[in-house]
Amino acid sequence: MEKRDELYAGKAKSVYYTDDPERFVLVFRDDTSAFDGEKKEQLTRKGMVNNRFNAFIMEKLEAAGIPTHFEKLLSPVESLVKKLDMLPVECVVRNVSAGSLCRRLGVEEGQSLTPPTYELFLKNDALHDPMINESLAVTFGWAAADELAQMKILTYKVNEVLKALFEEAGLLLVDYKLEFGRVSGEIVLGDEFSPDGCRIWDMATRKKMDKDRFRQGLGDVIETYEEVGKRLGIQFD
Ligand code: TMP
Ligand code: ASP
Repeated sequence: MEKRDELYAGKAKSVYYTDDPERFVLVFRDDTSAFDGEKKEQLTRKGMVNNRFNAFIMEKLEAAGIPTHFEKLLSPVESLVKKLDMLPVECVVRNVSAGSLCRRLGVEEGQSLTPPTYELFLKNDALHDPMINESLAVTFGWAAADELAQMKILTYKVNEVLKALFEEAGLLLVDYKLEFGRVSGEIVLGDEFSPDGCRIWDMATRKKMDKDRFRQGLGDVIETYEEVGKRLGIQFD
């Protein structure tokens, strides 16, 4: 497998073509952004930590029967993935209230949400990822009704697998965002799962151990990501 030209550079990852038209290389950079790119910083080791974190989680999800684009680690900061036709829809499940839910509805942070909530957002930084619903997604062609149904099933299935995995490590999976794409008529999990796209709190102390450390200027961002990873059993360099 040979890495070719860059296809696209996102806020934290870049995507490269390969000599296989069905495979891409994802490069996890040290760039960190929040608030739709308004706050940006380079955090040493972040690319490596998130690449290994993502590989570990994607392998757990595959083992639980959830189709993902992940194929294998190529280097500390690179992974080989299947080429997906990505849908511009972000699927968010929340087990505990935090973030935009609290701002939008005026509810207090830290409430246990039963059953867990499910929300859709349009992936569009210029519009600050507005909340959407299935009707809007179908009407504007962002995803078909059957695809949205499958995304919801898979997003909740991820919750069952990961909530248990994090709980065993004394961690609370507060919420997370997933992105999906199409390949060969199937809906497959794409993008990444790392502390950049979810909220994780220490079960006992409720210490924030995710990108809220960066958003809120709490410090020790990557050290804390690594602590989460180590508690899950991930080996870092
Ligand atoms: P929110 O509270 O800002 O709506 O975010 C909910 C979860 O989804 C949180 O873990 C962060 C994640 N998320 C992203 O990583 N990127 C996004 O663009 C959005 C909308 C959410
Ligand atoms: N990932 C998004 C950004 O970079 C949103 C966020 O995490 O606040 O800007």
